[in-house]
Amino acid sequence: LILIVDFGGQYNQLIARRVREANVYSEVVSYKNAYKRIKEKKPMGIIFTGGPNSVYLDDSPKIEKEIFEMGIPILGICYGMQLMAHILGGKVEKASSQEYGKIELNIDKDYGIFGQTKNNSTCWMSHFDYVAKAPKGFEVTATTDNCPVAAMADFDKKLYGVQFHAEVEHTPFGRKLIQNFLEDVCKCKKDWTMSNFAQTKIKEIKEKVGDKKVLCGLSGGVDSSVAATLVYKAIADNLTCIFVDHGLLRKDEGDQVEKLFTSEFNMNFIRVDAKLRFLNKLKGVSDPERKRKIIGEEFIRVFEEESSKLEGIDYLVQGTIYPDVVESGTDTAEVIKSHHNVGGLPEDVDFELIEPLRELFKDEVRNVGLEIGLKEDVVFRQPFPGPGLAIRIMGEITDERLHLVRESDAILREEIKNAGLEKEVWQYFTVLPNVRSVGVMGDERTYSHAIGIRAVTSIDGMTSDWARIPYEVLDKISSRIVNEVQGVNRILYDITTKPPSTIEWE
Ligand code: XMP
Repeated sequence: LILIVDFGGQYNQLIARRVREANVYSEVVSYKNAYKRIKEKKPMGIIFTGGPNSVYLDDSPKIEKEIFEMGIPILGICYGMQLMAHILGGKVEKASSQEYGKIELNIDKDYGIFGQTKNNSTCWMSHFDYVAKAPKGFEVTATTDNCPVAAMADFDKKLYGVQFHAEVEHTPFGRKLIQNFLEDVCKCKKDWTMSNFAQTKIKEIKEKVGDKKVLCGLSGGVDSSVAATLVYKAIADNLTCIFVDHGLLRKDEGDQVEKLFTSEFNMNFIRVDAKLRFLNKLKGVSDPERKRKIIGEEFIRVFEEESSKLEGIDYLVQGTIYPDVVESGTDTAEVIKSHHNVGGLPEDVDFELIEPLRELFKDEVRNVGLEIGLKEDVVFRQPFPGPGLAIRIMGEITDERLHLVRESDAILREEIKNAGLEKEVWQYFTVLPNVRSVGVMGDERTYSHAIGIRAVTSIDGMTSDWARIPYEVLDKISSRIVNEVQGVNRILYDITTKPPSTIEWE
């Protein structure tokens, strides 16, 4: 295990992923709990992340000095290195000229973590403070034109610092540097693979559950599908899945989910057709937050009713993944939209939880899915929000409006697939802005709906750019929608980034 101590840097999770890509397990902890966690977990090595503060200010994040005396190798990155220097008696100052972006690095000692990295390599810098003087016992291992200590090391104590961001793609040798730290310095075994993970988890679940009964709320999304399948592999018929079809799914989606889990896996599968219940509750509602609240609450009611019909259930499976549980060094999470997870269920249930994917990042979840026999189209399914098409229809939700988004969305998806863009575009769907405009079809005037196309590239949905879908593909999508979906006479393309907009329209 490598523990990543988070000081509020924007790349904290990226560091954890880099470590895992090197087949070493890592976890992120807040600097506030770091000392305690290090004592509990006894990691093979520690990495300090960057962060937006200046170490010499009183209220900046600090860490116990004892951590440096535990004999555990430490790599400090950016703020992490400055903090190391500050605590161990070096000098950190405000730089007269800040370094930002790609910078030439002169590597003076091409061993230790710099083993087999090329001299004069480019690295990615983003800092206004710098280490002016390394602490006693440290050697300077790299410099740049403006930075006298771009990297430092106390080889005896296995303490390393780099001012640049080794974790980002713009530092081409960064992966190698992190690997060197893991293998040569920390002596980590490289046994974190998704096939190991799946086998171990299946065994663990088997032992934990024995012949007790387990319930799973399935949405058909990647996380809940992989979680359910993993549990199914462990306990087969002792698992029952409930799939609440709220009538706000994409075209044919409910049938596809049912088919996957019943014909391919033969699971105990209950599909609840709750469309009318949801539409009734949503009648006349056009406020986005109200829609989300109603759907979230109704979902829980339906799930409770259905699960109370079952007897002797002890456990509930949830598809929680690692980004949901990371302890962050920053405490800033403003609620922009109240997200609702179809997998996420009542808080006050008296089942014990099984969260088999709790330690995994999304890409790891996908790899586990492939390992245990799920097909690519399930595993690489684009994200779909819990409240479904309801938040893609501005204004009231009616059958007619659902039909317009559902049909146009199906055409969009088909054409993106035909163009081979499924993996390139992160998420793509249509929305109904609920505006009508004048058009002409045949010789007749029309006064019909406009449909918006939203297609974005993103890594994690936190930020996104609009996808540059080729004009020919857009052209085909546009003409197919206006021709095939009655009641639509205009197509719009949403070309905003997130921020300032969001990916969904509501
Ligand atoms: P926004 O619209 O906030 O969306 O930019 C970011 C990502 O989250 C998805 N999303 C949701 N997912 N429950 C979910 O499980 C929700 O309530 C929800 N709302 C938005 C959205 O599709 C995008 O991928």
